[in-house]
Amino acid sequence: MKTLIYAHRGASKLAPENTMPAFELARAAGADGIETDVQLTKDQIPVLIHDENLRRTTNGTGFVQDYTYAQLRLLDAGSWFSPKFSDTYIVTLDEFLRWFRDQPMFLNVELKTNVIAYKNIERIVYESLKRYHVLERTVISSFNVDSLKRMKEINPSIQTAFLTSTKMRNLPQYAKSEGCDALHVKHRLLDKKLVKRCHKQNLELRIYTVNRPSMMKKCYSLGVNGIFTDVPHQAIEYRDLFRK
Ligand code: G3P
Ligand code: MG
Repeated sequence: MKTLIYAHRGASKLAPENTMPAFELARAAGADGIETDVQLTKDQIPVLIHDENLRRTTNGTGFVQDYTYAQLRLLDAGSWFSPKFSDTYIVTLDEFLRWFRDQPMFLNVELKTNVIAYKNIERIVYESLKRYHVLERTVISSFNVDSLKRMKEINPSIQTAFLTSTKMRNLPQYAKSEGCDALHVKHRLLDKKLVKRCHKQNLELRIYTVNRPSMMKKCYSLGVNGIFTDVPHQAIEYRDLFRK
């Protein structure tokens, strides 16, 4: 079985995370998919940014939810990474999807609802994915299982994945009982037993964030369904090597 390689926040080792340059580099590297994080602005626009707070990845301060998109669009979302990305800005989910719909890739939209419970984010994100006809190749993930349940209420056929970094005895059974199709877990929780249990439950298993070659090899040899990596070009190289 071929393990799919998702670029985590885009090719985030090579360009500022969750920006168009990072997504374009992921595509150029030959990644199978893209993982990205969604938060909501004050005017209910879904935007791609990992943190609730603007401080780490932009030249702004305060919270995403306290600004309109027109205000956020003016921020520099690239210089923190390198001066050569100073023109880079926070992108909306819709602008990203206008590019993504023509790329032969899978998508993982992570709803960042574990810190701030953005009202209606599930419906808003769903409508965008539907508008760009990408629902069938998208999996929605979240650390917040209630968000995933709301997604399934909107459309039971949308793929959902429970995200966790916490060791739990019956994790696959739990994810299944909450109606999920997949489990996205932190790399240190990966072992043979977990793979077996997931596959027995008919749950896809994907691992984050896999940047070390030794962990890549472990994932490939155990046959997990996917990995999230900041270095998709390296993950592809190791996957090719490993298969020979
Ligand atoms: O979706 C996998 C991974 O992105 C979850 O953690 O904090 O990188 O969004 P985080
Ligand atoms: Mg994420």
